[in-house]
Amino acid sequence: MNANEHIEAHESAVKHVTGRALYVDDIPEWPNQLHVATGKSGLAHARILKLDLSAVRACEGVVDVITYADIPGDADVGPVYGGDPLLVDEVAVFVGQPLFAVAATSLHAAKVAVEAAIVEYEELESILTPQAAMQASSFVLPEKSFNRGEVNAAIKAAPNKLTGEQYVRGQEHFYLEGQVSLCVPDEDRGVLVYSSTQHPSEVQKLVAGVLGISLREVAVEVRRMGGGFGGKETQAAGLACLAAIFARRTGCPVKFRMPRQDDMVQTGKRHDFWNRYEVGFDETGLIQGVTMDLAAMCGCSPDLSEGIVDRAMFHADNSYYYDSSRITGYRCKTNTVSNTAFRGFGGPKGMIAAESMMDDIARQLGMDPLDVRKANLYREGREVTPYGQTIEQHVLPRLLSQLEASSQYRKRREEIARFNKSGSHFRKGLALTPVKFGISFTSKHLNQAGALVHIYTDGSVQVNHGGTEMGQGLYTKIGQIAARALGVSRSRILVTATRTDKVPNTSPTAASAGSDLNGMAVLDAINQIRDRIINFVAGHYGCSPAEVSIEDDVVKVTEKTFQFEEIVKLAYMNRVHLSSAGFYKTPKISFDFQKGVGRPFYYFANGAAVAEVIVDTRTGEYRVTRVDILHDVGKSLNPAIDIGQIEGGFVQGMGWLTTEELLWDGSGALISNSAANYKIPTAYDVPEEFSVELFDEENSEETIFSSKAVGEPPLMLALSVWCALRDACASIADYRFSPPMNAPATSEEVYRCIRLARTHLQKVKTND
Ligand code: MTE
Ligand code: MOS
Repeated sequence: MNANEHIEAHESAVKHVTGRALYVDDIPEWPNQLHVATGKSGLAHARILKLDLSAVRACEGVVDVITYADIPGDADVGPVYGGDPLLVDEVAVFVGQPLFAVAATSLHAAKVAVEAAIVEYEELESILTPQAAMQASSFVLPEKSFNRGEVNAAIKAAPNKLTGEQYVRGQEHFYLEGQVSLCVPDEDRGVLVYSSTQHPSEVQKLVAGVLGISLREVAVEVRRMGGGFGGKETQAAGLACLAAIFARRTGCPVKFRMPRQDDMVQTGKRHDFWNRYEVGFDETGLIQGVTMDLAAMCGCSPDLSEGIVDRAMFHADNSYYYDSSRITGYRCKTNTVSNTAFRGFGGPKGMIAAESMMDDIARQLGMDPLDVRKANLYREGREVTPYGQTIEQHVLPRLLSQLEASSQYRKRREEIARFNKSGSHFRKGLALTPVKFGISFTSKHLNQAGALVHIYTDGSVQVNHGGTEMGQGLYTKIGQIAARALGVSRSRILVTATRTDKVPNTSPTAASAGSDLNGMAVLDAINQIRDRIINFVAGHYGCSPAEVSIEDDVVKVTEKTFQFEEIVKLAYMNRVHLSSAGFYKTPKISFDFQKGVGRPFYYFANGAAVAEVIVDTRTGEYRVTRVDILHDVGKSLNPAIDIGQIEGGFVQGMGWLTTEELLWDGSGALISNSAANYKIPTAYDVPEEFSVELFDEENSEETIFSSKAVGEPPLMLALSVWCALRDACASIADYRFSPPMNAPATSEEVYRCIRLARTHLQKVKTND
């Protein structure tokens, strides 16, 4: 492949950096526009005895105030199972839950007004951690297991066994653009909604639901988001619904933009997970049996937790063959905000258990962790996952060997071992970890997409599709796909804002499947028009369709050539239909959740990373000095965008595993509720040496131009950093002790592990 092939800048790159890209909050305001704020529960679990809003109504600028009783239609905005009332009815179930809402002439007026409410509570008992929820059997949905073989017997029979446990904290999305919706009422009952959402069709459905009107009366438009990362898959809908209710009640356009602190407190995040495992293995490190218990802190309602914990279970093997196994997922109900999708969708939480288990095995046997990982990789003969899907394209054995060589892993391992014996206060750590990530929504029906393509008489082309742009470059890729498929230059193609009245019944842009699904739908639409044009031209000039081609803006008809727009005009004059709707559904997938077997994923995206860290053992402070990544995106649709996704995903994963510490206090209030006390990575945290290469091999399944999805998988490459930190701590005990590290590995956590390693060493020495 020509390395520069298909490289193209993001369609909005210049607009992003010059500030000309329009986000919802940039849309010019109407003179009569209103702004929303909500009054929040101060307790994690409480019956509302009294809600006196008279002072709120009297505040300056307040135009309307609503409570649960004022919701005209269905008050529950839960996406799958319900359980998410737009406003509290009788009992509040987390700190920050909206009790009532105010529409005022300015955001400031609305924010001031909500503070004037008088609320009386009867405090109820609350459950605030997954451990407490497990103890109390408090679940939002029942547990599920994947079972294979006689796992207890297999572990018992194995020559070596060990158990492990870890607490893995959640993550705040911290999209640059916070949650926002703007609703404009129409002349009848309907509304036009501008929303920063990954799921326009669901916003449409829920807005129609709360207003008690039909879906055809609601249109949702999304030009772009300033980041979504999963946080705008379900969490955007509540804002749109409240704005819509006020818009219908007042007849005014209404905007609801959450200030950052409200956004952090009131919208769901990545789940905390409490993981436990037991593993039996032989002298070479080969796993013979594994049990894993993954307990997720779902918060107060199911939201998307069913699928998220499913995906954690589907990725508890990461890249390794487990033979006998029992993987159980628990969906713990706690009195905290309902947790939601976040890049990786549960996958990272299953994978971290697998990766820490690999390190534990290596340290028990005195092996290099990379050798344990390589021994356990899926390969021919050991290729069926705990949930019965057969791995067909074995990318990782080759990818790992390539990266091991290109990163000089073995040589650096030796150098680091020498450095760590030198008596310095600093310790270095190194780890190579793989990622195998299943591509497809595990809810089968979501694996469909639609597109709408128009060719206008000047030869320009408008493309619309069901996916949304959140910075990941979907619109850029779609524009490139359309140009390639039609045989015209990219400059002819305009990809327009996503709208529910252009392409209906769409899936969320999620599961990394945006370009896979919508790209194929666009291809389908274009192929239809292209065939119509070619058949028309063949008939018109009396040749066979095989003698007509469209390439590089030129239409060739036997020996003759025409400009594309000439043929388009001719086709129009001859009444050829130049617009088409396209559709795609992913083939081959099905899963039986009762039995826990099937093929949930069309294919897997793969990658691996080598991370090196240096740790100050006096303080636990550290830096990531070098990272080498080799990642599988099939045949890249756009190497520049893909490498950007890999770099961004990796750094976001590093944030989750190192500095982003999501904390609640003993009463269930979020402590890490602002940029001042929640540390996302900065430019300074990017590894000093950072190399990202694409593994050049096409997808063995039929996908859009043989590419693979890229959005989420690279986030999990950051597990290499977490493992490298643990490696540095383990070096203190001569790599024969695996410190029980939690995530994130903040400096405090690293320091705790350093001390545990020292204590272990001391014990070993006294026993000698
Ligand atoms: N990249 C940017 N810049 N901003 C985002 O919000 N979201 C991620 C990923 N990459 C995100 C991103 C998530 S969670 C997903 S599921 C995918 O993009 C969604 O887009 P895709 O399916 O088109 O890859
Ligand atoms: Mo991504 S978490 O699937 O929106």
